[in-house]
Amino acid sequence: MARVLINFAHPALEKSRVHQQLLAAIKGVKGITFNDLYEWYPDLDIDVAREQQLLERHDIILLQHPFYWYSAPAIIKQWMDLVLEHGWAYGHTGKALQGKYLSNIISAGSAESGYHPEGKHQYPVREFLLPFSQTAALCNMQYLAPYVIYGVHRMDIEDVRGAAQHYRNLLEQLRDDKITPEALTRLTYMNEALQLPSQTR
Ligand SMILES: Cc1cc2nc3c(=O)[nH]c(=O)nc-3n(C[C@H](O)[C@H](O)[C@H](O)COP(=O)(O)O)c2cc1C
Repeated sequence: MARVLINFAHPALEKSRVHQQLLAAIKGVKGITFNDLYEWYPDLDIDVAREQQLLERHDIILLQHPFYWYSAPAIIKQWMDLVLEHGWAYGHTGKALQGKYLSNIISAGSAESGYHPEGKHQYPVREFLLPFSQTAALCNMQYLAPYVIYGVHRMDIEDVRGAAQHYRNLLEQLRDDKITPEALTRLTYMNEALQLPSQTR
């Protein structure tokens, strides 16, 4: 079984429509470690040793968050700045993360059609995530196709619940090696994984 860590960041979970449902759907999924960064560090005062130990104990690290200004809520940046230390995560002797996988699990207010050259955001979400994929590369990790739930502003609660079940399904398959990280490095978005024939996942 792959050891999956979810580093979750939402600065106002009490007002959330989407991530509350995602959390409800994945609650109790066995073998997955859930780490709520704003709950642990409401003042952004990150315990670097704790976070590094968590990373060392897992193979697949998922950053789950709403898409904020084409990126992530502030604590994710703080986490990267402090936890991914030179000599530990990167640099000559920095090999702690070698062979692990990183990805983003994102909800976006806008529809997918907005993330095209003719759309209002002009670029695909995957391009906005370059700081994450390149950080993974510098830290000797492989970046996996991100999972994106688009158009959440227009979803009703049933749509959100459906997306949440889809996410749970994906996590279980990832944990059980039914969807392999290798397959996800070849995809553009993780959303495509459930459509693949099972032998190529
Ligand atoms: C500060 C802020 C920035 C946002 N930036 C984006 C953005 O760049 N692109 C986008 O599609 N949606 C953006 N949104 C919409 C959020 O992604 C959306 O509200 C969130 O995914 C909904 O999840 P929730 O119900 O769990 O809060 C932004 C929302 C906020 C509050």
